[in-house]
Amino acid sequence: MKFNLRHLPFVGWLGALLLSACQTTPPPPPGTSGNAQRGFALAESGCTSCHAFNRPTSAPVAPNWAVIAQAYERDEGALMRFLQAPGKAGTRVAGALEQFGPMPDMGLTAQQAHDLAAFIAEASFDPATGTLSDADRWRAEPADVAPLEQALNMARATKSTLGKQLMAALASGGAVHAVPFCNERAIPLTDSVSRSLNARIRRVSDRPRNPENRALGAEWDYLKAGHAALASGQSVEPAITKSDDQYTAYVPILTNAMCLQCHGALGSDVQSETRDRIAAAYPSDEATGYSTNELRGMWVVEFVSK
Ligand code: HEC
Ligand code: HEC
Repeated sequence: MKFNLRHLPFVGWLGALLLSACQTTPPPPPGTSGNAQRGFALAESGCTSCHAFNRPTSAPVAPNWAVIAQAYERDEGALMRFLQAPGKAGTRVAGALEQFGPMPDMGLTAQQAHDLAAFIAEASFDPATGTLSDADRWRAEPADVAPLEQALNMARATKSTLGKQLMAALASGGAVHAVPFCNERAIPLTDSVSRSLNARIRRVSDRPRNPENRALGAEWDYLKAGHAALASGQSVEPAITKSDDQYTAYVPILTNAMCLQCHGALGSDVQSETRDRIAAAYPSDEATGYSTNELRGMWVVEFVSK
């Protein structure tokens, strides 16, 4: 099947479906409940690039918080199901899928979905603007977040910034036109998120497209172990190490259907025009031939503990 803009909603949906067929998302154990404060921290780092807390300065790319909160009022279970497999469980915000296209799978655990649902239920959103109206309340109590969770939040923030821009680039002309975006913008964008989060965040791979993104040493070892884990039906878990006061975290990056139009099989997934563009910019490209749910690479997040 050839991919183009018109197929994108379907592709995202298919990706979620394929992913969810491979991952079982167990419900949280009975008696656990969402922590709204953690949910706020998660939303601020992982959701606001598309669902702004403040009045957005450009045209919105996703439904606003007030609309979301209203659509899922008193149905935390349905909200958690959507968050863990966007597109699969069906959508509730009328017209959102048609207007904005599908939401990328954010790779949330059941507990994180629970925390987000608690935040969405407890926070106040302005029905007129859709913005968060009690931001001061949430910001006043910084969550006590463990280092690994901080690293995951930073990786998620970077992913969602890149994801938003990639979605926009794909929507404005398909994969062929999005290649230059990844080519010119991926590293600067990652760098700017790094600066804003006061961390060093990189994306590396054992089969890089850009030779500057090659995984080395312990990074390569982590990916090798990750491939072995996936091959034996296990999942790849994030890892964190500490030396002096510096943390280094590794967060796996898996493929979904959307990635294949630039990283899949040449000829079938990757159209020839896209392939030519990629070949021109990356003569030593190793990053094709992937299928879904494979380990494409990893985030490396380095930061100093607070
Ligand atoms: C890269 C952009 C992007 C990011 C990041 C993102 N979303 Fe979305 N979200 C979308 C788009 C596009 C839609 C519209 C599609 C839909 O409604 O199914 C959407 C829709 C939703 C909906 C409404 C679903 C429905 O029933 O229609 C919820 C709830 C939601 N997002 C929650 C979140 C949360 C929580 C986060 C952070 C963990 C998040 N989103 C991060 C783009 C994004
Ligand atoms: C429109 C084409 C396109 C799509 C779609 C795309 N990528 Fe890429 N990807 C690229 C390009 C071009 C680069 C090289 C960027 C650079 O020069 O830093 C790249 C680089 C990467 C890297 C950094 C390591 C390397 O190989 O240089 C990772 C990891 C990655 N992509 C993962 C993904 C994942 C996961 C998806 C799907 C969610 C995806 N990509 C979707 C074009 C794409």
